[in-house]
Amino acid sequence: MSVTVRAPGKVNLYLAVGAPGEDGYHPLATVFQAVDLYEEIEARPSRGLELTFTGLGKGLDAGEGNLAIRAARALAAHAGVPAHADLAIHKNVPIAGGMAGGSADAAGTLVALNRLWGLDLPTSELCALGAQLGADVPFCLTGGTALGVGRGTELTPVPARGEFSWVLLTQSEGLSTPAVFREFDRTVRTPAEPEVDCGFMEALARGDEIFVAMNARNDLAAAATSLHQGLRNAIAECGEFHLPLLVSGSGPTLAVFAGPDISAEDLAADLRARGVAESCLVARGPVAGAHVI
Ligand code: C5P
Repeated sequence: MSVTVRAPGKVNLYLAVGAPGEDGYHPLATVFQAVDLYEEIEARPSRGLELTFTGLGKGLDAGEGNLAIRAARALAAHAGVPAHADLAIHKNVPIAGGMAGGSADAAGTLVALNRLWGLDLPTSELCALGAQLGADVPFCLTGGTALGVGRGTELTPVPARGEFSWVLLTQSEGLSTPAVFREFDRTVRTPAEPEVDCGFMEALARGDEIFVAMNARNDLAAAATSLHQGLRNAIAECGEFHLPLLVSGSGPTLAVFAGPDISAEDLAADLRARGVAESCLVARGPVAGAHVI
């Protein structure tokens, strides 16, 4: 018997960041959107706990520090069962790209093992476990379009209409999320209380994708850009297209909004031909959270 789960990566359509608390974490007001770039997690019965990666994950550390292994151990401890499974993850979400690939691996592992081990825990319980593993794990479990506050783990689904087509410009060299937050702290001394603009939420609800893309905000964009030459190049190359650009989370993935009148596939081909990034991928959102297929 084996269980296969797909878990989506995300972009942040809105990411307002406040001053760090005593625990070092920053209060956020963010709008996540899950996109159809998926990690595929396969779980099989075993007498131990093993993890292998293929796809973009080739060569990744699959030891005890890996978030998928930590997710398996946390679920086993929570449910009082042995942490026995063979996990095989085919990675399609860029590593250290600001798209929650590691969190998607953890979310997918929780869903796969919940099924493999016959636990039948509700998503809310998996989310509580996931929140202890990483700030983006609960969103990777629930997917769709959601408002995240606190560390980004307190989620409310957002009534969002419409479909967003993105061309994702990915970089071979990633960015460390803590490093980007540190650069944010160094350069933005007194950030305001984070909140999402009402007009932005209204535009999401009525399906005005153009307004949403034009008014997307990411308080980490400047910090990410200053730390990554490839991201700076990609932004400069995209300038002449006059399309909304969005740094995804803590970067360096850059999401170019393709809009209703442009084929995202044609735009990706155009950008690819210019060699603006390591790869140019088309992704659409919103899509569902981690689910068994
Ligand atoms: O929760 P996660 O492990 O994904 O977070 C990685 C790092 O990003 C944290 O150690 C912290 O430095 C930073 N972070 C933050 N505030 C958040 C989320 C993440 O400062 N709300």
